[in-house]
Amino acid sequence: MKLIDGKATAAEIKKEIRTEVDKMTARGERAPHLAAILVGHDGGSETYVASKVKACEECGFRSTLIRYEEDVDEQTILDAVKAFNEDPEVDGFIVQLPLPRHISEQKVIEAIDYRKDVDGFHPVNVGRLSIGLPCFHSATPKGIMTLLERYEIPTKGANCVVLGRSNIVGKPVATLMMQKAYPGDATVTVCHRDTRDLKEVCRNADIIIAAMGRPGFVTADMVKEGATVIDVGTTRVPDASRKSGFRLSGDVDFEAVAPLCSYITPVPGGVGPMTIVSLMQNTLLARSGAIYPKD
Ligand code: GUN
Repeated sequence: MKLIDGKATAAEIKKEIRTEVDKMTARGERAPHLAAILVGHDGGSETYVASKVKACEECGFRSTLIRYEEDVDEQTILDAVKAFNEDPEVDGFIVQLPLPRHISEQKVIEAIDYRKDVDGFHPVNVGRLSIGLPCFHSATPKGIMTLLERYEIPTKGANCVVLGRSNIVGKPVATLMMQKAYPGDATVTVCHRDTRDLKEVCRNADIIIAAMGRPGFVTADMVKEGATVIDVGTTRVPDASRKSGFRLSGDVDFEAVAPLCSYITPVPGGVGPMTIVSLMQNTLLARSGAIYPKD
């Protein structure tokens, strides 16, 4: 069994980005600038956004964070999005999800200029991804593909089972795994709560990507000997022995499953750090105009 070290891979990529940024600034060019909008005080969102700001510093990017209280109205958020759309010094920005129930996430996402949508959530980016055109790939799926590539895990013709059908992870990672490319060229099955014979489907998988947010869902009896298991789960479960009062739990019963695998990602230290660094890569792409040329 080989552990896929997302933390180390993300650190390597951050160094690569930093080198690029240092070259840009040495040429007298402006450093990339990522902005973020955070609403409320959800613990997970606070942690993610803090990690994104820290990663910007490490990569030599400029970052801007705008915060609103939970009771902010939708129009205020739409106005903030418009201001970032129109700011020539902001290369890319994100609105951290989830948003409070009185704000339409879809409306906010569609208000973002797709050329600055470094999360890859705008329908233009989602549509372009589905037909294989250059676009921003959403960060978690992109991070998973980078791990498969850097660990040279074979994907061509592989049976890949994706657990979960969210717009943020399940659907886009399934799209990427089936595209004509490496990593890709896999035979993809997307499973969800209504899937019949789920254990049987998983036992046939060469690659399992678990993204349901159900701690310990993937058990040893669901995993074929030699499979690669990618764990996207990051559920906070109470843990009195930790100072924070919780620990992060993946969707995979790691202790039982790991001995069966050829490769497996841990939680924490697997997909999580790759999500953050993928957002940095997208911001660099937004700055350079490599996907959508600057006008
Ligand atoms: N909430 C959970 N994951 C993400 C993400 O990748 N981007 C944003 N904006 N919100 C999230």
